[in-house]
Amino acid sequence: MPSPSRKLLVTSALPYANGPIHIGHLVEYVQTDIWVRFQRLAGHDATYLCASDAHGTPIMLKARDAGVAPEALVERFRAEHQEAFAGFRVAFDNYYTTHSEENRVLVEQFYARLTARGLIAQRVIQQAYDAEAGMFLPDRFIRGNCPVCDTPDQYGDSCESCGATYTPAELKNARSVVSGSAPVEKASVHYFFQLAAFEPSLKTWLAGGHVHESVARKLQEWFTAGLRDWDISRDAPYFGFRIPGTADKFFYVWLDAPVGYMASHRNWLQKTGRPDSEFDAAWDPDSTTELHHFIGKDILYFHTLFWPALLEGAGFRRPTAVHVHGFLTVNGQKMSKSRGTFIAATTYLKHLDPEYLRYYYAFKLGSGLDDIDLSLDDFVARVNADLVGKVVNLASRCAGFISQRFDGKLADALDSPALYASFVAAGESIAGAYDQRDYGRAMRETMLLADAANKYIDDQKPWVLARDEATLPRVQAVCTQGLNLFRVLMTYLAPVLPRVAADAGAFLRTGSLSWAGRATPLLGSRIAVYEPLLVRVDPGAVSRMVEDSMETPPPNSAPPAPALAAAASPTSVTAEIELADFQKVDLRIATVLQAEAVEGADKLVRLTLDIGTEQRTVLSGIKSAYAPADLVGRQVILVANLKPRKMRFGISQGMVLAAGGDTGLFLVGPDAPAPAGTRVT
Ligand code: 2FM
Ligand code: ZN
Repeated sequence: MPSPSRKLLVTSALPYANGPIHIGHLVEYVQTDIWVRFQRLAGHDATYLCASDAHGTPIMLKARDAGVAPEALVERFRAEHQEAFAGFRVAFDNYYTTHSEENRVLVEQFYARLTARGLIAQRVIQQAYDAEAGMFLPDRFIRGNCPVCDTPDQYGDSCESCGATYTPAELKNARSVVSGSAPVEKASVHYFFQLAAFEPSLKTWLAGGHVHESVARKLQEWFTAGLRDWDISRDAPYFGFRIPGTADKFFYVWLDAPVGYMASHRNWLQKTGRPDSEFDAAWDPDSTTELHHFIGKDILYFHTLFWPALLEGAGFRRPTAVHVHGFLTVNGQKMSKSRGTFIAATTYLKHLDPEYLRYYYAFKLGSGLDDIDLSLDDFVARVNADLVGKVVNLASRCAGFISQRFDGKLADALDSPALYASFVAAGESIAGAYDQRDYGRAMRETMLLADAANKYIDDQKPWVLARDEATLPRVQAVCTQGLNLFRVLMTYLAPVLPRVAADAGAFLRTGSLSWAGRATPLLGSRIAVYEPLLVRVDPGAVSRMVEDSMETPPPNSAPPAPALAAAASPTSVTAEIELADFQKVDLRIATVLQAEAVEGADKLVRLTLDIGTEQRTVLSGIKSAYAPADLVGRQVILVANLKPRKMRFGISQGMVLAAGGDTGLFLVGPDAPAPAGTRVT
């Protein structure tokens, strides 16, 4: 265990206040919240700070489009974000905003100190300018054809098709996203923070174990490439803080965002009636307070180079640690709106208990920056097997006997003090895993204990002992042992499952759990009547959540009927395609297992298809030509890799091929029975 009574300031990255919180964001907030809860459980004094990241061009333009002031837009999202986080039991001490007076004062202080030390340079630069909108354009607000592969509609800095990176000036047919006009080059004075001056001290800081070794390796690459001055200014119009002494220059959002961590701290001290001297003490270069930032790997540069350099340049302390996590994939792929895996926090909460996801993320998270995958099938299986099957089940197996046979009273002694002691001792290693953010290990070790506890109950068989008056006292001792093992397990899981842990504490009448408190078993006291602490994940609820998250294609973007119908009368053949294009289409032979008319739809039949490896549900517009009952047993050809489509009557997982039109519809199939799943080539 780390030394007692540490004082910690902990932050998660400040979310931009212009879009919903989704399950990708939640990896970080859940990760940080678990760490904070663990530190508190272990007796440390941790303050968890966050805020809305309020400034920048995207927020300014979004507010303009919505016809509201940027301040109003930010406040709306700030409220929404707070609600989403609260839903997942992410318990910030303060959730502030970077658009605050505290932040403005601090940013100006940074700027004054850096300027006084000669660390800010002014240079004239050329930039893309939208003359019609009267504004300079960030790279992301310019689109055009990729200069390398000619793909249209690419951003000003990189091509999504071939991956090339370039400058906006190199883009062909460049257009401003704001007005649609062609950008022109325009000169303007910008302010640069001289990062290179900090190279030696950054290297020393990074050698001091403040980041994970994989992060340190990444940084080494940046040092080798050379540190460049950082442009910290933007021209008006801009939503941000004006640079003192200028009429039309603003601080770049990425300067005031990390300073927002400090502003949130100061605001929290003030809100909670603490003296501002605590702020000075915490941010002093000799501070004994630890400062921990949790971030995603995409914003590493800002937090491990710019931010420590800014802090040092302005005479503040540097972070104790920057903890970096990877990205989330769902079912092995990037989150996708069309697949329904771009799941908003609020959508998740409509369907599922937040503790499930907290546990699954904890199970998957290690201390490095590997991406984590949320496989939805594995999620259901893992949560049900571990939390319901092993942990909660242990309590329910023991509680009934204690309530019904012993009036809710626990025995005065444990049945196996040695087993209990081994559970307590295991807490050392689990605490170490939490502290190093290796939650995966903490969960695996906890589940091994849960297996041992269930095996103990299986071996003792209290249900057999209960049949005989003579062995009844052993029932009480065995179930008391089981419930005490459960209590230790709940202590180990409490940072991950705050609601279940609180309910377990109420059930055991043990009050709130603490890491040290696990060493003393509960004996001779009364427990409350057991109520299920967690129910199984319903796979149907997961499907409904995915369905709810699917973006319905805009009208006319997809063929109206799911059957691929040729025109009635022969028409000329459409434009040629390459063989490689055709080979992208995965056609499979499928056997119709079930077919039924879709209630309320004139043309649709709901088909359940066997494609060898799995079953698919497809909505097909063939009712005018086929009675559903006649379809069962037939073989059809399925476009198996078509993205699932959300239709008014449900989701269609593919499309069956049919020819025809006015003259009738003709399902296409093999001319003799073929194994389901055979690829059509
Ligand atoms: O990348 C982002 O979403 C930023 N809004 C994170 C800012 S973190 C900190 F520096 F404020
Ligand atoms: Zn390209």
